[in-house]
Amino acid sequence: MGFYLFRKMIRRLPGIVIKAVPLPEPVITEGFGTRLQAGRICKERGYHSVLLVTDKVLYSLGFQESVIKSLEENGVSYKLFYNIDGEPTVGMVSEGRSAAEECRADCIIALGGGAVMDTSKVIAASARNYRRRIGAYLTKFVLAKTLPMINIPTTAGTGAEMTVGAVIKNAKGVKSSSVIVGLKVPDVILDSELTVNAPSKVTLSCGIDALSHGFEGCVADVKTRDEDMKKSMECVRLVLENLPALVDDPHNIDRRQKLCLAANYGGNAINKQLAGYVHAFAHTIGAVYHISHGEAIARCLLPVAKFQENLCSEKLQALAVYCGCENAAGLFDKLEELIALSGFAGGFSKIEEKDYPELIRLIDADSINYSPPKTFTDKEIVLILNRIKNGEK
Ligand SMILES: [Fe+2]
Repeated sequence: MGFYLFRKMIRRLPGIVIKAVPLPEPVITEGFGTRLQAGRICKERGYHSVLLVTDKVLYSLGFQESVIKSLEENGVSYKLFYNIDGEPTVGMVSEGRSAAEECRADCIIALGGGAVMDTSKVIAASARNYRRRIGAYLTKFVLAKTLPMINIPTTAGTGAEMTVGAVIKNAKGVKSSSVIVGLKVPDVILDSELTVNAPSKVTLSCGIDALSHGFEGCVADVKTRDEDMKKSMECVRLVLENLPALVDDPHNIDRRQKLCLAANYGGNAINKQLAGYVHAFAHTIGAVYHISHGEAIARCLLPVAKFQENLCSEKLQALAVYCGCENAAGLFDKLEELIALSGFAGGFSKIEEKDYPELIRLIDADSINYSPPKTFTDKEIVLILNRIKNGEK
């Protein structure tokens, strides 16, 4: 059986499997400066010793100070671990787990972006069994009784504070993607103060990534509870309504807070509805041409979305109306305006036709993690790659 037939046959499988995985349903504490609530939450939950995880850049900006103050005010002891720099590695996880062991942590607070969240998830999963080697937690599915986490994202984009996946570089430097079955995230704090000084380019690319999670969730071929579909649609609406205005008014707290919520709903979409080909293309192009996830998403979103438009027309129409547009064409116009603002519109000349066989292989392989509206043939993938390369919509 060819790989295409195999992929076609299992297209709905990830959507079925994910229903068997217990997913976080955290209490959300939101508002400007709400990271100061971390200590109160720990006290109320009965946590006595916390490992506070952040990264070197955030540490140098002092983002952790308010969290530490609130822990001290509530009599919760803590240990700070911030030796995270760039993409998470097994070494960082190992060092973080040792820090958790030293302070006998009964809770992990993750303060940061995707790298901090992913590192913290594997620390939380491995910290109940200090004798087991870290490599055992880098398998495709990790069954673990984890320490409870309080996740405080510092970007409004990945939604990683909600998701049960983690990508860590193993001892050979190869990225390994794990689903942590049983990850406990009782609390998430969405504090817009942490995002308010983000540069415009970062705000835009993170916001477009968040939107893509909601968008791909809305059109995925997965049976979804109404409330989850509503969150995914709200994710798209909130980004479209608030992200463009932040370019000229970056310190608008209300809009920043709404973007934090949109990103969180996007994380819920990844959990419940999975992503689709926008992410399969973006992961591949990002990895091969070394561009950020946000840029890759911005370049792939419209070419993929328009290519599969007729396969999910009812869902697209419902999403368009929810976002205040007459139809899918109106929604695509809004997406196009947003992507133009990000500076990532137009063609992507780094893509070369000689790379197509490798790009197709990687896109095919990544796509089996999702439940897209259709399984693309390699010929269809080439058509979409041409559109991304040439800047056609
Ligand atoms: Fe993404």
